[in-house]
Parts: sequence; structure tokens; C-alpha cells
Amino acid sequence: MIKQTKQKAPTKNQKVIQWVEEISRLTQPDQIVWCDGTDQEYKNICDLLVRNGTFIRLNPKKRPNSFLARSNPKDVARVESRTFICCQKEKDAGPTNNWAEPKAMKKKLTGLLKGCMKGRTLYVIPFSMGPLGSKIARIGIEITDSPYVVANMRIMTRMGKAVWKVLGNGDFVKCLHSVGAPLQSGESDVAWPCNPENTYITHFPETREIISFGSGYGGNALLGKKCLALRIASTMAREEGWLAEHMLIVGLENKKLKLKTYVTAAFPSACGKTNMAMLIPPKALKDWKVSTIGDDIAWIKPGKDGRLYAINPEAGFFGVAPGTSEKTNYNALAACRANTIFTNVALTDDGDVWWEGMTENVPAHLIDWQGHDWTPKSETPAAHPNSRFTAPASQCPIIDKEWENPAGVPVEAFVFGGRLATNTPLVYQAFNWTHGVYLASTMGSEKTAAAEGTTGEIRRDPMAMLPFCGYNMGDYWAHWLQLGAHVTHKPLIFRVNWFRKDEKGHFMWPGFGENLRVLEWIVKRVNGQAKSAESPLGWMPSYSDLNWNGLKMTESQFQKLMSVDAHTALKDVESQSLFFEPFRKDKTLPPEFEAELVLLEQRLKRSL
Ligand code: GTP
Ligand code: SPV
Ligand code: MN
Repeated sequence: MIKQTKQKAPTKNQKVIQWVEEISRLTQPDQIVWCDGTDQEYKNICDLLVRNGTFIRLNPKKRPNSFLARSNPKDVARVESRTFICCQKEKDAGPTNNWAEPKAMKKKLTGLLKGCMKGRTLYVIPFSMGPLGSKIARIGIEITDSPYVVANMRIMTRMGKAVWKVLGNGDFVKCLHSVGAPLQSGESDVAWPCNPENTYITHFPETREIISFGSGYGGNALLGKKCLALRIASTMAREEGWLAEHMLIVGLENKKLKLKTYVTAAFPSACGKTNMAMLIPPKALKDWKVSTIGDDIAWIKPGKDGRLYAINPEAGFFGVAPGTSEKTNYNALAACRANTIFTNVALTDDGDVWWEGMTENVPAHLIDWQGHDWTPKSETPAAHPNSRFTAPASQCPIIDKEWENPAGVPVEAFVFGGRLATNTPLVYQAFNWTHGVYLASTMGSEKTAAAEGTTGEIRRDPMAMLPFCGYNMGDYWAHWLQLGAHVTHKPLIFRVNWFRKDEKGHFMWPGFGENLRVLEWIVKRVNGQAKSAESPLGWMPSYSDLNWNGLKMTESQFQKLMSVDAHTALKDVESQSLFFEPFRKDKTLPPEFEAELVLLEQRLKRSL
């Protein structure tokens, strides 16, 4: 890392050089640093963050080369209300996105950006989403004034000087980020600079640009993730005939049954993707071997053989900490044993980290995520519900050997699941592709702490992409249908729900590793080895179709878990239709969905 104002650019790409010049003229940083991605640079950045007070170095004996950051309490999650899609026509952003006219938004942002890096360093981060140099990868360049972002991007993406060679004179996605907190001369910095009153997360899909202002947290600031790999990539995918999805990718292998099947699954934020991606089989299902390709984002492209192939464009996990334990997700814990950045978790007295659900024994004393003393008697959680770990994917003990294969892995099933307490069965299979796309599009889920706002409120979250689709959701549904029409070997589509509750509010399904029982049925369906019965919602397993070895669940308990009250389901059909209304109005609702609504309604009515 070279530190000087007139540092020579490590690239001859004039588009890069001019853009960096233009942005530095506008934002007026003290200096410019071109990141090279070396170990030494990472070490220097971490040392700087420790000196600044942003990082606390954890006990190297307990958590080698790892750090804790505490954010401003006003900057703890994605801010959907401040996230914008800025395309020429409002209709192209669609009814579910915030839209802003590009010129007007640029003008507003230019006002905010003027001098916003005063007293700070402007870092230029070249990064690749997807294996460096592979055809499938996309290059982004993030300009940021946050060294915390630099450190996280080093883990989450393939970042550094090797990108310049691959980029050559080519195009890249411009990712501009500022915490929006300039320093007057002599003014000392705070540990977590941000500007919550003026936060904007903006996307310009037509010119492939991202401008993010005011927040330093997660998807708001690590622009390769949701902004590039989902919102911008989804618009590229639409034009080029592929899919950019909020999905985990997992390998399920059974040597006895002689199969290895890759499955992807879309669950809304904080609804179990990391858990399923790293699932540990229960003892009784020891014949299964699970391996991880990715835990959050999948880029899925049709292959010449008529199958769909998925890659994970990321290089790290930005995982939810609370609830992660040796029991629930041993592999995630193993992945963050070292070389990890923790944000908003609690600090133990011996310099390690802790969060709710990590251990059965709650420590007698902690420093909570806001830096205050905490005891089990405290009324607030020790770790923020959206506290996270940033860990290299390569540290996951069960990372799949194909995880960096640029050709991707063949997808045999798409699983969609929300967090729903009532009337949604554990698992069912779509009748066909169109019905599956419809099931995914009408998926409901309770809101979680991953985004600002009320948690627990139910909303429709189509394909778990509601906050991440960079264009009109109606066009996105049509794109799914269109793609399916040309894929000869279509993955089967399933809906699952791990979160059903009984009258007392307890989860009816044990979840976590036990979810493999459901996945086993899914894999067997894919391979023509499992039975199912037709129901108004879709194909469903009977009690005897699932493996109950080692789990106490009676047939009547299972039936309760699978039950659907037709009257309630009919009300849901009405609500689905209401959800479609804005898409009817703007004429983007696929006609297939109207037909599916009628079919579902009729099947339910005849079942009464
Ligand atoms: P994002 O990173 O926000 O996109 O979320 P994610 O889908 O990867 O979420 P993650 O796997 O980290 O799960 C978040 C929460 O769901 C954790 O608190 C888990 O303990 C909980 N969870 C995961 N799987 C299950 C399950 O099968 N049953 C239950 N009851 N909870 C689960
Ligand atoms: C999510 O909210 O779905 C995440 C975390 O994966 S963030 O990167 O902050 O969006
Ligand atoms: Mn996510």
C-alpha cells in the first residue's frame, strides 16, 4: 500500500483513472490509496483500524488475527427505505422498489458528496465477483473512505492488484461509497463514522453504477454483495439470459444411494441460508455428506447441455451471529475461528466474542455490542440481533471442492422458504416450472433484524429478492418463466418452512441438521426415488416417505406440521391476488399467474 496524494495509478485503464480523478476532485480526500490486496496491506489496515478505535483486537490465543467492531447504534442493518433504483422510467423499477429519476438523484448525491471525504483517505478497491479471470466473473471497483470496508471487502471478494490485469481496458461496475462524515481540520474521528440522516443506497442499472452514502454497515457498504451481485447483476442477468439470486448453494452426497446432487435455496435475510449451506447431518443420517458452495448469492446460467449451473460470486461469509452455536451450525463457528471480523457482537472478559445462542451457559459478565457492561440480568441483548461475522469461505470445513470452479455446479432443485408461523407446510413440491415460479413469487415471510423496521411483520418476499431485484418484479417473474422455457433439464421447485409454531409459540419442527430429512426427500424426488401425493398446494410427502430414523415425531405430529386449512388458504389466495394488483396495473404480471390463481382457488374450493 503506497500512501501519497499523487500516487501513480496501478492501471492504464483511462476509465478508471478519470473516474478516480473525478471523484477525488468532488469528495476532496486528504490522500488516495490504491489497494493491492496483499497480506501486508490487510495487516496495515487492521492496525490502522485498531489505532482509530474502530477495531478491538481479540485475544490472539482464542481468536487469532480477528477483530471486533462496534457500529453506531443508528447504523446496524440494511436500510430498505433509503435504497433506490434509479432508471429512466419509473415503471422499470416497478411497484416494489423505491424509484428516483437518475439525473435528479445524481444531483442530490453530488451535493452530498461535495467535500465528503475531507480529512479522510480515499481507497480504490479493485475486486472480482466470481473467480478472478473467469468468463462468468464481473469486475467492480469500489471507491470508499472507510478502511473497515476495505478490510471486509478483502474477505468477501477476490480483491487486489491481480484485478487490473484481468480488467485491462475493459468495463467495470463503478461502486462509490462514503460514510458521509467529513472531518474538519483538527477534528478527531469517531470509531464508527456514518451519516444516518442522509443515507442513500442508490443503483443506476442503465449505466452500471452504484452510489452509497451515509452508512458503513454490511450490504449498505460492501458494495460487491447486494448492490452489485444482486441488484445490478439481476439487470445484467435479465439482458443476458441468466439469474442472479439470493440463494445458498449446497452439495448433498450419498455414497450408498450413489448420488451427489446440488441444490440451491432462497430464504429471506436471516431465515437460515447459512445454516442450510453448512448443515451437519444428524447421526442417523450419516450416509449423507453435505458440502458448501455458497451461503447467500448464486449466479445461475444455462449450460450447453440444457442444465442450469450455479456459482457463488463471493469469497466470504457475512453471516448472522446470534443463534450460531456448535449445535446449530458447527461449520460456521469453525469458519470464524480465526481471521474474522465480528461486528456488533459482545466481548467476553478474556477477549473473545459471544452472542445470544452461542453457548448454553451465558457468561456472567460481558461488554455488550454498544460497549456497556452486560450481565444475564440486563434487559437488552448482548449482541445486536443483526450482528455478523465476516469470514473467508475457504475456512469452512465442508467447503465443496468445486466451489471455485468457474463452470459452476449443476442445479437439480430450487428450494424456497420463508419464516411463517402458521398454515404453511414443512415441504411441498410444485406441479411444474410455472407453478414453482408462482409459489416462489407468492412466498411470505416475517421480517427480521437484517433490515431496519419492525421484525415479525409478514410480507411477501418473492424469491427472497424483494429488497434485491434491480428491476420491475413483474418483469423478473416473466424472466424466470422465459428462462425455464429454454432449459430442457429444469430443476424441480420446492417450498419449505422450518418455522411453523404450535399454539404455545414453540417451533414444531426441530430444524437445523434435521432439515436434512426434508432435503433427503427432495433429492430423492429429483432422482426419482421418493413418493409423494397430490394436494391442492402441490406434491406432498406422506409420513412414510420421510426418514424418521433417530427422530421422535409421530404421524399425527407430522400431519399437524403438514396441515393446510383450506379456508385460511383461500384467504391467502385473495391476499396473493391483492399483492399482484400493482403488477396487473402496470401490465407486467405474467398471464400464467392469473391462471395459477384460478387453479389454486378451485383446487382449494373442491377440497372443502
Ligand atoms: P442473510 O445472511 O441475512 O441473508 O441470512 P441467512 O438466510 O443466511 O440466515 P442464517 O442462516 O444466518 O439464519 C439466521 C437465523 O435463523 C439464525 O438465528 C438461525 O439460528 C436461525 N435458523 C436457521 N435455520 C433454522 C432452522 O432450521 N430452524 C430454526 N428455528 N431457526 C433456524
Ligand atoms: C441480508 O440482509 O440478506 C444479508 C446481509 O445477507 S447484508 O449483506 O447486510 O445485506
Ligand atoms: Mn442475504
